[in-house]
Amino acid sequence: MATRRDRPDYYSRKARREQFASRAVYKLAAIDQKYRLFRSGQRVLDLGCAPGSWLQYVSSRVGPQGLVVGVDQQPLASPPGPPVIFHQADITTLTPGELRSLSEAFDAVLSDLAPATCGIKDVDHQRSLTLARRAWEFAQALLTGGGHFLVKVFAGPDFSAFVADIKPYFQKVIIVKPPASRQESREIYLLGWHKKTKL
Ligand SMILES: C[S@@+](CC[C@H](N)C(=O)[O-])C[C@H]1O[C@@H](n2cnc3c(N)ncnc32)[C@H](O)[C@@H]1O
Repeated sequence: MATRRDRPDYYSRKARREQFASRAVYKLAAIDQKYRLFRSGQRVLDLGCAPGSWLQYVSSRVGPQGLVVGVDQQPLASPPGPPVIFHQADITTLTPGELRSLSEAFDAVLSDLAPATCGIKDVDHQRSLTLARRAWEFAQALLTGGGHFLVKVFAGPDFSAFVADIKPYFQKVIIVKPPASRQESREIYLLGWHKKTKL
């Protein structure tokens, strides 16, 4: 039986019409419109990038002079062209050093990484936090001063400790639930805005 989630909603239909790989693009677009994350010529790392709608969006924002490195354990449906470089890998075994040959540093590190969910809230929360903390390790190694870190987390009791760990490194830390994020989903986005050059 089809559930509410299976039925194409407003954002799914819009994504299909506008030829984006998924409705997730409207979450990033809303956050970018509010917090101005990207500029022409920037280098952006997108962790958990498949099927690729964030890659499409960020490419158009950074333009041909920029660089967008996407990482996912799944392949992309269609091979991306410049400025995107796709690296197929499991983020839990990949190291930040392995991305340094593509760029020494990045102006933004994004993570829409999502674990396989089992429906038990606390288990899904912990799995998503493990991925979010892994994304934070990449950001710590590769994010430039002034850069932004955006990461998805499934809300739960240990989220506030993660926020507290990140807070000292940024001018602002903001928790966002963009309109395209389904109300019934526990996903939220944590934005570390403008990394400090000195702690
Ligand atoms: C919600 S999707 C990302 C959607 C994407 N932002 C877009 O716009 O199309 C989450 C992705 O995280 C990836 N993922 C989950 N665990 C991973 C891991 N350990 N290593 C690499 N990718 C992983 C999944 O394969 C999946 O493609």
